[in-house]
Amino acid sequence: MKKVLLFSDPGIDDSLAIMYALLHPQIQLVGVVTGYGNVTKEQATQNAAYLFDLANVKNIPIIGGAQGPLSGEIVPFYPEIHGQEGLGPIQPPEEYKVNLLNFDEVYQIIDEYENELIIASVGRLTDLAVAFILGGDYMSKVKAIYTMGGAFLVPGNVTAVAEANFHGDPIAADFVVEKARNLTILPLNVTNKAIMTPEMADYLDESNHTPFKKLIKPIFEYYYEAYKKNVPGIPGTPLHDVVTFSAIVNPTFFKYLKRRVRVVTSGQVAGQSIADFRVKPDPEPEETQDQIAIEMDYKAFINDFLSIMTRENSIT
Ligand code: BDR
Ligand code: CA
Repeated sequence: MKKVLLFSDPGIDDSLAIMYALLHPQIQLVGVVTGYGNVTKEQATQNAAYLFDLANVKNIPIIGGAQGPLSGEIVPFYPEIHGQEGLGPIQPPEEYKVNLLNFDEVYQIIDEYENELIIASVGRLTDLAVAFILGGDYMSKVKAIYTMGGAFLVPGNVTAVAEANFHGDPIAADFVVEKARNLTILPLNVTNKAIMTPEMADYLDESNHTPFKKLIKPIFEYYYEAYKKNVPGIPGTPLHDVVTFSAIVNPTFFKYLKRRVRVVTSGQVAGQSIADFRVKPDPEPEETQDQIAIEMDYKAFINDFLSIMTRENSIT
């Protein structure tokens, strides 16, 4: 069983990732840090609480993350992609009274699952950077970190060169890629190919007896309309954040290159992710190198996604 602490900003693909994690028999979600990103921290918290409520899950701690990036800049949100509340046309039906835990809970979780804990980060990198800043040595007790972010030698999605999670807080992103050991990066190179088509959304709508049935088709349709405007002709929507969980449980679906990664922290190309892909890269110390996913077996990924998302009676 993989014990995963999630850093997230749900968000449509974040929400699909949370559903996948809750339904997966080999993933135990042991906590979620909700921060700003696709929506505000408060909305991200409400959305996580809504998904847990739908699933009748009561024991996953929700920890309060950041309101904005380390630079102190004003945060842009993305209602045109994720919807006003982050779930496309869906509004959580009630205002949840969330017992939002202090950030210190992150270290309690690290202690509880020492050397077993995997961190999955699928939002801006601010909270993970803060975890390193506040935690110091504590972070060496984390077994592995997986993050969705970056775009290597391919176009970005918020600027010509930058991906949204790295661009949203490039200082934090650069800090994390330098500090983290055993870091796996799932960039747009693979996540853009993790496409869910309208036919798959129909299938998930029809064959779904999970607590999330009523959400999947409406959030997909909203997300797809947005994507079609930005990428005319795209056959479906990328499941960016789901790829992160898939990589945790399905290592054979991915091919990686090991390189030192840096993120440009300011200026016109802020958020751009850089690694040396020359045939003979400059040598870098082993501990500074991260695993960059550069290829994914799409068929295996999507079959696994569809089968997990239609599992019955599987949430414990
Ligand atoms: C990433 O940005 C967000 O909009 C998505 O949730 C995903 O984490 C993709 O660039
Ligand atoms: Ca996200």
